[in-house]
Amino acid sequence: MIVTKLILRNFRNYERLEVRFDPKLNVIVGDNASGKTNIVEAIHFLSLARSFRTSETSELIKYERQFATIEARVEEDTIHKDIVAVITPSSKKITCNKKPVRKISELSNLINVIVFEPKDALMFSDSPLVRRNFLDINLSKKSPVYLENLMSFDKLLKERNSLLKEENVDLTQLDIVTNQLIDVEETLCKYRQAYVSEINNILSKIIVNIKGTKEEAHLEYYPFVKVDGEFKNRATRAYERNKESDIRHKVTQLGIHREDMKMILNGKDISTHGSQGENRIAVIALKLCPYFLIEDKNKKPIIVLDDAMSELDKIHQERLLKFLEKLEQVFITSTKLTVKNASVYEVKKANITRRKA
Ligand SMILES: Nc1ncnc2c1ncn2[C@@H]1O[C@H](COP(=O)(O)OP(=O)(O)OP(=O)(O)O)[C@@H](O)[C@H]1O
Ligand SMILES: [Mg+2]
Repeated sequence: MIVTKLILRNFRNYERLEVRFDPKLNVIVGDNASGKTNIVEAIHFLSLARSFRTSETSELIKYERQFATIEARVEEDTIHKDIVAVITPSSKKITCNKKPVRKISELSNLINVIVFEPKDALMFSDSPLVRRNFLDINLSKKSPVYLENLMSFDKLLKERNSLLKEENVDLTQLDIVTNQLIDVEETLCKYRQAYVSEINNILSKIIVNIKGTKEEAHLEYYPFVKVDGEFKNRATRAYERNKESDIRHKVTQLGIHREDMKMILNGKDISTHGSQGENRIAVIALKLCPYFLIEDKNKKPIIVLDDAMSELDKIHQERLLKFLEKLEQVFITSTKLTVKNASVYEVKKANITRRKA
């Protein structure tokens, strides 16, 4: 899928902006604070109904305005979809061809955007939450079953935690909720494990392609108990062992909400042994994995690389660009970047102009 047109009104620093984009490489250049990230933030917003930069919706609305809109035309082979988001400080309404889109799962099927933002380069030394989010977001887009179970999990976890916070914990109720929790966790862990192994089938190939040297990379996922036919028994015993401590701490200390994963590059943990550039390339490769795991050419996600190039040397920049050229549609933002075979747009004074080829 590709975005062919974008119209912003009162979004961030833009009063009104209208721009047409091309398939393949779209490079957005401009000085610091000119509004490059704001544009890709708007494109990405349409895929998840949330920003990758803030959870405060009101920050997206131009100062002193009441609401913002993002409109995009998305094309998939011969189909086109007009997606519109209307954002107020307290609401987000999305429509596709004028019909309301109420579920996020529906939305990410209409427009799928993968984003790499500068802070992702440190994804493996950041908190485990960031790594779990990677799995949760990609798996939720891929599977409605995962999303449904994840939402049940969040509800059950809240319920269990509020039971634990009571003066006299209702042990019967605690056991009931714990069993329900284990049921959904079994499904979620299986999905996580299977997805990590799908990623591991292609991760090294992408890294080798970008780096041009022989590399072996894989993710190591640590489920909170071993995922096999004995999952339920193991998990039940683990929660039982932890029960007293959970009651003392008034919180659920064990479960999929505490899981983590590592990336191993050439036998070493990348967070402690990898250089900054290596981490950056490895995370870009990881973020591109879902693109290759979707087989339907028309459903291939739109890729956004916000300021991903600046800290890479010339050789790696060029190799990465060569790799990205093959993808359906990619947006790259940069303060300075010369790219052949790309549509280049210049952002200045809250306006965008296409550079002549
Ligand atoms: N709600 C808003 N209303 C008006 N202006 C805003 C709003 N939110 C952010 N801005 C402004 O938008 C400008 C551009 O931000 P943006 O992050 O897109 O810049 P950028 O081109 O990506 O810069 P850099 O190269 O430093 O990453 C900033 O100066 C910021 O103050
Ligand atoms: Mg920026």
